[in-house]
Amino acid sequence: MLQIGSDTEGFRIDRAWACVHCLADGTEVTIRMLRPGDRESFLAGFEGLSRESRYLRFFTAMPRLPDSVLQRLLNTDGMDHAALAAWCRTSADTIVAVARFIRLRKGGDAADVAVAVVDHMQRRGIGRLLLAHLGEAARERGIRRFRAEVLRANHAVRALVRDLDANALPVAVDGSIAVYDLDVPAGDACHRLCTPDRSWYAERQ
Ligand SMILES: CC(C)(COP(=O)(O)OP(=O)(O)OC[C@H]1O[C@@H](n2cnc3c(N)ncnc32)[C@H](O)[C@@H]1OP(=O)(O)O)[C@@H](O)C(=O)NCCC(=O)NCCS
Repeated sequence: MLQIGSDTEGFRIDRAWACVHCLADGTEVTIRMLRPGDRESFLAGFEGLSRESRYLRFFTAMPRLPDSVLQRLLNTDGMDHAALAAWCRTSADTIVAVARFIRLRKGGDAADVAVAVVDHMQRRGIGRLLLAHLGEAARERGIRRFRAEVLRANHAVRALVRDLDANALPVAVDGSIAVYDLDVPAGDACHRLCTPDRSWYAERQ
């Protein structure tokens, strides 16, 4: 099992890092790296994804998470595979969103990116917020490009991709799947999101 802080030392966003945001609607959200011990709250979050959201995230009906998949999603190395999770103050034992990157090639500067937000918290800015922080973590680790494989019918994530990189166009389309290659959000993107007219921001030491 990974030790907290052991594999992410030297990065600003390490395993001990956490931050709190207040969304535009007043909801307080805490973000930190996902840990293996988050299993129960991760599974509770999975229950908060509708059948449609699960399909959009995993490209297959996913009535339950097979243990092998769960282990892979929880056990990140913090360097080539990192995941950020969000919790709400009102439901502290349930993860409401996860965004992750997985480096495509060892030593490379491109990574696959994926994100999911529980249905009742969608369209409140959490997806954008998590990806901005994930972008900062990715840049620290030498990643410059995100590759997003999305279902073409997934208008929400395609809009989110364009929101993050206005120049992002699908580089490949294969049947029902489109692949976007986008600039990793700049390190200051999350701070711009936190300007007082959008949200209040405080960082925990
Ligand atoms: C796609 C998803 C991650 C977006 O997260 P979110 O927290 O709801 O998105 P945000 O509130 O941060 O939205 C940011 C921007 O994305 C776009 N967007 C998000 N949801 C949208 C929707 N339903 N319709 C149109 N645009 C949408 C908008 O441009 C939005 O900015 P705005 O609200 O200022 O107009 C979320 O809908 C989700 O988890 N869906 C199911 C799983 C999934 O599709 N994952 C992606 C596979 S990689």
